[in-house]
Order: sequence, then C-alpha cells, then structure tokens
Amino acid sequence: MSIIYNDKCKSFHLTNGQISYQFSVEKETFLIHNYWGKAIKNNISHSDYPKRDRSHSPNPYNVNTRKYSLNNLPQEFPTNGYGDFRETILEHVYEDESFITQLSYNGYSKYKGKKKIPGLPSTYIENEKEADTLEIYLKDKLYDIDYTLSYTIFNDFNIITRNVRIKNNGDYSVNINKVLSMSVDFDHNNFDLIQLPGSWGRERKVVRSHLTNGIHRIDSKRGTVGHEYQPFFALVSPDTNEQSGEVYGFHLVYSGEFLANIEVGEFELTRAQIGIGSEHFNWELNPGDEFNTPEAVLSYSENGLNGLSQIKHKFYKKHLIRGKYKNKERPILLNNWEATYFDFTEDKILSLVEEASDLGIELFVLDDGWFGQRDSDTTSLGDWFVNREKLPNSLEYLAKNIHKKGLKFGLWFEPEMISKNSNLYNEHPEWLLKASGRNESSSRDQYILDLSQDEVRENILSQLKVILDNVPIDYIKWDYNRNTSEIGSQSSQIRDGEVSHRFILGLYKILDELVTTYPNILWESCSGGGGRYDPGMLYYMPQTWTSDNTDAISRLGIQTGTSLIYPINSMGSHVSEVPNHQLNRTTSLEMRGNVAMSGNFGYELDITKISAQEKELIKKQINFYKENRQLIQFGNFHRIINFYMANENEAAWIFVSDDKKEALFYYFKVLDQTNPPLKRVKMVGLDPNLRYSINSTSICLYGDELMNKGIFVENEQYYNSKHNLYGDFRSSVIKLTAY
Ligand code: DGJ
Repeated sequence: MSIIYNDKCKSFHLTNGQISYQFSVEKETFLIHNYWGKAIKNNISHSDYPKRDRSHSPNPYNVNTRKYSLNNLPQEFPTNGYGDFRETILEHVYEDESFITQLSYNGYSKYKGKKKIPGLPSTYIENEKEADTLEIYLKDKLYDIDYTLSYTIFNDFNIITRNVRIKNNGDYSVNINKVLSMSVDFDHNNFDLIQLPGSWGRERKVVRSHLTNGIHRIDSKRGTVGHEYQPFFALVSPDTNEQSGEVYGFHLVYSGEFLANIEVGEFELTRAQIGIGSEHFNWELNPGDEFNTPEAVLSYSENGLNGLSQIKHKFYKKHLIRGKYKNKERPILLNNWEATYFDFTEDKILSLVEEASDLGIELFVLDDGWFGQRDSDTTSLGDWFVNREKLPNSLEYLAKNIHKKGLKFGLWFEPEMISKNSNLYNEHPEWLLKASGRNESSSRDQYILDLSQDEVRENILSQLKVILDNVPIDYIKWDYNRNTSEIGSQSSQIRDGEVSHRFILGLYKILDELVTTYPNILWESCSGGGGRYDPGMLYYMPQTWTSDNTDAISRLGIQTGTSLIYPINSMGSHVSEVPNHQLNRTTSLEMRGNVAMSGNFGYELDITKISAQEKELIKKQINFYKENRQLIQFGNFHRIINFYMANENEAAWIFVSDDKKEALFYYFKVLDQTNPPLKRVKMVGLDPNLRYSINSTSICLYGDELMNKGIFVENEQYYNSKHNLYGDFRSSVIKLTAY
C-alpha cells in the first residue's frame, strides 16, 4: 500500500518502498509537513518539529499556546491568513476586497491511478497499478471555495506529482492573483541550489550556489518558458556530486510563465515552491468555476545528479512522452536552415535531397521560407500557403520527390505568430495579441497571435489542415521566435490578466487536436532553439530543437545542462558547417559528429558543397549512428565528467543498454595543454561481472575494472585506427560489447 493514513495521528504517509513523503493535519486545520526523502518503513508519520514560543510569530485563533505559530512550522499549503510571513502558495482578492485566505482541512480520499488535469498536459499512467493518488480537501468556509491538493506517488519511480484544483461554490466571484502548484518546507537550509539559466544560443548552464537567507526567485515573465530559466530547480546536499548525495528536484509541466521561489526564512527552514507565474496572472473564478494548476513533478535521488537524471529520463520517457515515436527510433535528418536560410529554390532543395539520400540520411526538413512571400523574417507569418516563386511545382510535388529518394519529408511552421506584412494581418489586425489601446512592440519583426480567441485557433487549425490533409508530411518543426510584451487581448471578451494562461491553454488545445488527428507525424518543438524546452511541450512533441547554437564546444555545455532533466531522445542535435555560424569557431567534423550523435542526430549544412573526404566521414558517422541509435536514444545515459564541474574543459558520458551488455562511451576535451597529465576515466553503469571487448580490439576488460580502476582514454590500444587527443577540440569514442 503506498498511501497510508493514520487516524490517531491524523497523518499521511506516501511511500513506494524507495521514498517517503509525510505530513499531518494539526489543530484539525493545518497541513504540517513532516518528511520527504529516502523511505522510512514501519513508521507512523508525525510532526516532530519542536514548538517554541517565538517572538513576533502570531498564534492562530484556534490554538491556546504561544508555542504554536505557522510562521515557524514546515507547511504543505501556506496561505496569507494565519501569520506565516514567508512566501505564500496562494493569493486571492475577494468581492469585498479582502485578501486574507484562511483554509481548513476538510477530509481526504485516495484512489489507485492518476487522473488527467483538464486542458493541461500532465504525466500519465497506462495502468492504474502504476500510481496512487491522495486528494486532500481544504475549505474556505467564508467564501465557500473548495481546494483539492492532489498528490500522486509512482510505484516504480522516486517521483511525486502535485497540483491544485480550486472550485468556487459560492455566490461571488473571486480573483486569483497567484496560485502555485506546490509548496514544501524543509526543516533546515543546508542545501546548494542548482538551476539551469541561459540565454539564446547558450541555454541551460548548470549553475550551483549555496543557499542563503532570503527569497531566491526563478521565473519567466515572457509569456513562454524562455531561454533564460528552466521551470526547474534542485536542492542538493552540499556534498552532492554526479554519482552520490541527496537531490530534490522540482519541475513544472507547463510552457508559459512560471515562478519558483526558494526561501530561507528566519528559522532557517527552506521553502520550495513552483507554479504558474503571477506577474501577468489574474484569474476571475466565477461561481461554479474550477481552476486547475499545472502539475509539479517532485523527484528525489540519493545517487547524486546523475541519479536524478536517471529517474527523470526514464520517467519522462515512460510517463510523459506519447505517440507513435514514444518508443520508435528517430530518423537522421538534414535541415536546410543553415545551408540556405531563406534563399533557396526547388532545384536547390532537390539537390540537397539527392546528396542526403546518397549519404544515408532519412528525413529532409524544409525550414523557414517556403510560404507566403517569405524571403526574410519581416514578412508572411500567418500566410500558410506555398511560395510558388520558390517552389513552383507545389509542396506535394516536392514531398513526392523526396519520398521517391527514400527520405521522409518534414516542414517548418511557426503557427502562433503573425507578420504585419501578411494577408492575415490585413484581414484580422484584431487577432494580434496586445492590450487594447496600447502600442505593440515588435521582435524579430513579428507579433504573436492571440490564441485565447476561438477564431484565431480555428484559423490556425484550418490553414494547417489544408496542408496536412494534402501533402504527405512525416515531420513538423513547430517554431516560436519571440516573447510576449504588452500582454492582453483586443477582444473585449477576454480579461487581460487571463490572456497569458489562456494563450497557453489555447496552444495546448491546438496541439491536442493536431497530434490526435495526425498521429503519424513526428513533432519537434523549437523556440529560437531551446526557448521552450519544457515538459508541457514534451507531452505533445517528443523532440525539441535543443539550441540554435550548433557549435560543438558550446553544445557540450548545452547538452550537459539539458541532460540533467530531459531524456537524450528529446534533444535535437545537428552537425553544422565551420566556421560555426553562431560562434565563428572551427572544430573537426569528427568532433562535431561525436557531439551531435549524443542526441537525435542530424546535419544542417550545405552537403552539396563538401569534399569527397568529408562525405566519406559523414557516411561513416551515419552508419555508426544507425548501428548505435537504439542504445543512444533508448539506453541509459550517465554523465561521467560533468562539463561544468570540469572547468568547462572536458566532458565524458556513457550510454548503457538496459541489459548492460552494450555501452558507448564518449570523452571530449576542449583546450589541450603542452605536456599534459594523463587522463584516467572511470566508467559508470556497467555490469561489474561482465567482460567487455573494447572497440572490438583484442582488449577485453571486466565491468568492475572499467568502473573501479578506469581507463586512460588516450591509450592507443583501445582504438582501431590512429587515435590521439593531441590538440584542441578532440574526442574519443569507445564501444563496449559484453560477451
Ligand atoms: C529559429 C530556429 O531555432 C531555427 O532552427 C530556424 O528554424 C529559424 N528559427 C527559422 O526562422
């Protein structure tokens, strides 16, 4: 049994034998957090946090001791009504302008399985034995509003998901100014905070700092998740490294504005919260209405950051990613963006396809520039019909010719956007997303469509369906290239404070309909590279374009940060030309290939202009990836040397099959030094008792030898051809095969 209620102590214990999460009801009113971490067996959850008389800490109306104050206690659902001065999970303004929320415990229920959250993506189960759910009911009697806190514990994962439902049963509407998906208090502050900040072209850097007093906030006010922060953070013990130490992870299944608070208060308790961002959020909950928050995914690992990644990769692959490609190998693609940008003709595209087919590439993706009058980024978003000047014989013709060459056909769209220079804008300027009466800022010369309006969503769907019903399309890259400003709606029906969230709900409606109607399409999400890499998008689209930065060295960092929380088979990763277009750096084709192969592999360069020697190497890379694709995309990925913990000068990782009989090890070095020390690397994740052949050479080593003693990566005996790590930007690959 994984959810235990103890009536005597009024306490709840969620456990799956690996983790325990405990809280209890105190004074018949409050939810006090007791424990979260490694499983405690045979234990009755009880609050052991000492109560003390603390100066300036109010005592709630229903206690008759100065020793009881919510300001000092670890809580599960802190509101601003009972004298807790830390960050709240919820803020309302009521009809009478009061903003105090006093909630009381009002019972619970539990059931096998897990429900969907209406209108929102969430982790799912295929069989009700996979999870158990506890619902805690809280009530605001004064305004007759019910709150349901959902906790789902998964049986095979160290994961608990949480979300909140608010139902207004009263006669008056209430304004929700803020409602987060979860809040939890730890009874100490001995943590490091890990987060993944970045910017365009340098997404998801692993940044670690010791937690100090005050409120640390990670958020997005951009209408989308953005490149700048992930809706994720982790609290880790100061001694945590890649392979050992405790890690608590928090992640939001949502693609819009978010807010995470990490607060260390006066008594050095740590409060951790995550949910919808409150900057552009004000929701009117009318009588009879219900509001559901997105889902927060809470994970616990006692095996360091790599342990966290193991849990999250497997969990998202099993319980978040859906559709035909969930368990299916992803094709190797050629994308024409960096090869041609907007400047292409049908002949040019077909010559790229011809070459791609010779090289063994499996999918051709026609990127931006194929529609409307789109010769630059200043025009035509919203006009989703083919540009006959570039493609005189139609998209159907192109798709058929690509299929004839044995490749799949993929197409780029940016459906949430509108250019002022477009037919759509001429006909419907009122569909542009902006607050009425305000001047709109442009970004990349484009504007956003107001997806909160029904007609806008219908128009997008009908335009896309005309193409998808007539052209045999196998893959779609769904782009989103700006952030919102002047947020609001020109429709008088929609309140400005609701637009940000309604936009995301509108996007999810569109995606839901498209992925259901066209189940055979492989979808890749993109937002100027990795600006919308989030679990919400992953629910609809199994892959994301990791970053516009295709420089191999930058990618060591970007892919390391991404791998902390997202599965490898969600990461688009391409070889591009040198000097690199984003950074002007030159690295070898070998290095670029090895980095890009550690994800969903592809090329993004003009392959009609490369040398015969380069073609040969590309063919080899493609064959190698095909042979190892199952292992890379569906095996277990372990970071061995974390790029950020190695002064951004080295990285090493390994892919290991479930049965541990096959593994693929990569070592990367950025800058060399003269007369360098030798490098021994210890493998991770192998079977200690299996004997592995190294790169099919005559050398065989046992798993325990490889893991405990390790190997010198520059040892030439391990390679079939001449190999050394002499010079900058070098890499080594070792295939381990057990026999
Ligand atoms: C941004 C994407 O990240 C690129 O890969 C490319 O598709 C461009 N947009 C096209 O405008």
